[in-house]
Amino acid sequence: MDPLVILVLCLSCWLLLSLWKQNIGKGKLPSGPHPLPFIGNILQVDVKNIGKSLYNLSKTYGPVFTLYFGMKPAVVLHGYKAVKEALIDLGEEFSARGSFPLAERINKGHGILFANGKRWKEMRRFCLMTLRNLGMGKSDLESRVQEEAYYLMEELRKTNGG
Ligand SMILES: *[C@@H]1O[C@H](CO)[C@@H](O)[C@H](O)[C@H]1NC(C)=O
Repeated sequence: MDPLVILVLCLSCWLLLSLWKQNIGKGKLPSGPHPLPFIGNILQVDVKNIGKSLYNLSKTYGPVFTLYFGMKPAVVLHGYKAVKEALIDLGEEFSARGSFPLAERINKGHGILFANGKRWKEMRRFCLMTLRNLGMGKSDLESRVQEEAYYLMEELRKTNGG
């Protein structure tokens, strides 16, 4: 083989491996089974029986451990106690959503569906306040909707089918 091709192959392998190492070392994650490059922990998980596999892993690594799905780490909370501690006792810290790059591009971090943290809290408060002022949850909301619908119909009628 051409030595240049071999050099390029070696270089790209080295680059990919160092990228992967960087990904692994980032931040402090709970311990877990050692991941393989690119495929992660897929060999340690029986895809036909994921529940049982996670149960087996929790026997070795405790109720909180890290699994790599491909190159992406996922922290697994196993069992009622770990889940309750995260979602109820420390609910504030764990209340964020995962990142959805597409939604972030479209919404630019706004909206109540995909926003996070302080911004989400402000959005939620603002939306609830505005909707309540409009009559959300009160019986007079129906008459307001009907009134608006009436004006909309009037506007449509003015076009005479045009
Ligand atoms: C879980 O562990 C048991 C006992 O070690 C083993 O027999 C079983 O195959 C494992 N199951 C999975 C899905 O890994």
